Amino acid sequence: MFRTHTCGEIRLSDVGKQITLSGWVQRIRDKGSLLWIDLRDRYGITQLFLEEGAESAELFAQARELGREYVIKVTGVVTERESKNPNLPTGEIEIRLTALDVLNISKTPPFTIEDKSDGGDELRMKYRYLDLRRNPLQHNIALRHKLGLETRRYLDSKGFFEIETPFLIKSTPEGARDFVVPSRMNQGEFYALPQSPQTFKQILMVAGYDRYFQIVRCFRDEDLRADRQPEFTQIDCEMAFVTQEDILNSFEGMAHHLFMHIKGIDIGKFERMDYATAMKLYGSDKPDIRFGMPFVELTDLAQNKGFNVFDQAELVVGIKAEGCAEYSRKQLDALTDFVKKPQIGAKGLVYVKYNTDGSLKSSVDKFYSEEDLKNWASRFGAAPGDLLLILSGTADSTRKQLGELRLEMGNQLGLRNPQVFKPLWVTDFPLLEWDNESQRFYAMHHPFTSPKEEDVALLETDPGKARANAYDMVINGVEVGGGSIRIHNRDLQKKMFSLLGFSDEEAQNQFGFLMNAFEYGAPPHGGIALGFDRLVAVFAGQDSIRDCIAFPKNNSGRDVMIDSPSVIANTQLDELGLLIKTQS
Ligand code: AMO
Repeated sequence: MFRTHTCGEIRLSDVGKQITLSGWVQRIRDKGSLLWIDLRDRYGITQLFLEEGAESAELFAQARELGREYVIKVTGVVTERESKNPNLPTGEIEIRLTALDVLNISKTPPFTIEDKSDGGDELRMKYRYLDLRRNPLQHNIALRHKLGLETRRYLDSKGFFEIETPFLIKSTPEGARDFVVPSRMNQGEFYALPQSPQTFKQILMVAGYDRYFQIVRCFRDEDLRADRQPEFTQIDCEMAFVTQEDILNSFEGMAHHLFMHIKGIDIGKFERMDYATAMKLYGSDKPDIRFGMPFVELTDLAQNKGFNVFDQAELVVGIKAEGCAEYSRKQLDALTDFVKKPQIGAKGLVYVKYNTDGSLKSSVDKFYSEEDLKNWASRFGAAPGDLLLILSGTADSTRKQLGELRLEMGNQLGLRNPQVFKPLWVTDFPLLEWDNESQRFYAMHHPFTSPKEEDVALLETDPGKARANAYDMVINGVEVGGGSIRIHNRDLQKKMFSLLGFSDEEAQNQFGFLMNAFEYGAPPHGGIALGFDRLVAVFAGQDSIRDCIAFPKNNSGRDVMIDSPSVIANTQLDELGLLIKTQS
């Protein structure tokens, strides 16, 4: 028998029992005639103890030979510890060894298997099996498992069927590039891996399965960031005979269930905000509403006073950082550097200090009197002690830049506590987005999203103004999910494709199957997909989804453990009809 117990469960009440444990050697402390070993498995750590002379000389010598991460099986008697460790659930006991078997040896790991590892990202990814032994990763993997389980339980209880859809498909346009797979049997032709099961779930609605879900892998060949992986997982859902309100309520219900069952937290009713308000007040379609700091517009007050930068700007807008008037020159310079970073792209930052003595001091004192600044402060509702941070430029980009600065100030002021959860529905997204480069509209969500009924007429006159029945679930500034009510009418879908620049032939070619399905009784339907990796990361209070995935890819899309992507043999290429034959 390898074990009678795990390394996480033995307590003071077990004192006197003979037990057997198996696990990995975390640490050895050799004090000459006394030896302690921390034995670890996924359940915890148990301290083992040996004393020279008290145990057999052979056993003691054997223990001395152990190294970190050796796999061992030990038998011994549970004893009460002399010096207890209150930070460890097993901290009151230790095991006095009577037998030890080395099940396997280990090379010295390239980084420490501790909560805070000394390994860099690449090294940890290369030796992912060692990284996965660490507590924080184990915690995330366990959390992921529980979230998946509770999701299935909740959706099952509401009558949803989990239905698998194929991975070898034809491209679904979600705005990213497809990963493609060559077909051996149909040379010169390619499958695409799904960016999401969007069209299939809509077809399932036509087929009458009126509540569908799937915890499903999606593939997108896009630039990677902390919250983006080339393959990621969605909790993908669709419902028929529902309004937007029904969907928001269903998935708010699911979020409640998950927070309640996994964290024991009642997250309360979701706030709602339309897209236009989110952009105007927070410069983001996924505002973090754990803190306020809304934007205040100053264009009218700040212009025509001789300050060229503001005079030429489309928008002058700022935030109020409460209690920050004491910020030093160095701190203000650091904020200026922050907004000037290429990723943010502001040209400069204007500040106004509302000093505690009631005086006002700004970085543009040359152009504005104290009276002017007082007017600004009063528009902000500022009090002595506050700091105003102001940006200017074209409206859209200035709002985005200020949105980043707002988040940075939220961080600096400790207003983004990962243990506090503030969910939000962002609604009424624009249907279309104009792209200057290609001079055409793109679907903001995807081409199957329906316009708001009252905006359908705008498709003929001013399509850019039409709003969609689309919504995002946002928690703590993270876009956790997005969805929409779909078009279920063939003619409207056709119109949408033509607005997106598809000829009838192209539309038929790519989406004929869906348009044909719409001719056989498509019910009104809609849905949502939650980013499962992001949801796990939000629950874990982490910014990056990487450590919430067992085997993630790095920022270049590589799996550095298995070294993929990789070159394939000419024979394989030849079979696929992909070998480019060079003439000799
Ligand atoms: P969307 O493209 O908004 O919608 O995706 C839904 C959610 O999936 C997550 N997500 C990602 N997570 C990690 N890495 C990525 N590369 C990545 N891309 C997206 C996000 C996002 O909110 N078919 C529609 C859903 C629908 O309309 O029902 C769709 O895929 O959390």
